[in-house]
Amino acid sequence: MLASVKTGMKKNSRNFAHGKKTFAAARCIVCHRFDGDGGATGPDLTQAAGRFKMKDLVESMIHPSKVVSDQYQAHVIQTVQGKVYTGRIVNETGNELTVVTDPENATKFVVLKRSDIEEMLPANQSLMPAGLLDQLNEEEVLDLLAYTLSRGKGRGPNFK
Ligand code: HEC
Repeated sequence: MLASVKTGMKKNSRNFAHGKKTFAAARCIVCHRFDGDGGATGPDLTQAAGRFKMKDLVESMIHPSKVVSDQYQAHVIQTVQGKVYTGRIVNETGNELTVVTDPENATKFVVLKRSDIEEMLPANQSLMPAGLLDQLNEEEVLDLLAYTLSRGKGRGPNFK
């Protein structure tokens, strides 16, 4: 991917509208806010351009579980009743935890009593699935990358 970035990004050939479309088609928008739109399972990516080097950005798209920020980490929770839930803790009180169990749907959650929790461990897998780029062709991947680095503005050196 870095090799195609080297040749494909330099040409001022990227297409903003196509990048935006790919961000939705590859489901990124389900979990990431970008320029004021999208889900909250993962971090807002609008300012990705200021936060990532190309290599790190590419790596976090291809190997999501290599580096997982604490704030967005999933937990695996086993209850005394023997049930196991995996998800993101979105709310904690003295007695209860709220755990969203479907990373693509924030309305799917369970509320667990702390007294019912047998064991709780940070998950070693990211909530972001691996392989999301597998069904994209090279042009789509490059437009997606350029879009992710655009801060929502359709101008910049990468675009036509
Ligand atoms: C099912 C939800 C989900 C989907 C779909 C998803 N992501 Fe993520 N993504 C996450 C979560 C959660 C994190 C934070 C945890 C981690 O670093 O793995 C993350 C992290 C990232 C990061 C690192 C951000 C940072 O601040 O560290 C990038 C870049 C990223 N995703 C890009 C993408 C792109 C591009 C797509 C579409 C191809 C995508 N994601 C699809 C959930 C998702």
